[in-house]
Amino acid sequence: MIDKNKLPTVSIKAINEIHFEEADIINTLYEVINEEDADAITKQIQLLVEHMQEHFSFEESLMRDKSYPMYTIHQADHNKVLNETRYILMDWRNAKDIDRLKEYFQEELITWLDQHIKAMDMPMADFVK
Ligand SMILES: [Fe+2]
Ligand SMILES: [Fe+2]
Repeated sequence: MIDKNKLPTVSIKAINEIHFEEADIINTLYEVINEEDADAITKQIQLLVEHMQEHFSFEESLMRDKSYPMYTIHQADHNKVLNETRYILMDWRNAKDIDRLKEYFQEELITWLDQHIKAMDMPMADFVK
């Protein structure tokens, strides 16, 4: 679970709101994973993928508008995690392996979000603001 109060914040309110929404989606995903509700899990991962796409395109459009010099590396980090999450959805559909989901979402994605906000979103927000 993500404690929203501990999520790092950036200097642009709209980006923080998107991050809080994403944390809510991930927290609901944990709940349905723990309930082992297969249909709800599939829907929630799909929702997360859609939200990530919106989240990342929003940030990328801000960066393009301001010709942010770190755009390419930031976008590459978005694409990497989006592809991993899409892969996890495909793997879940095929294998229905709850433990693999737990491993990815509890160990990797949470850490990624925290580190990405600190290392990339914070300096980006300060620049484009
Ligand atoms: Fe972000
Ligand atoms: Fe980002």
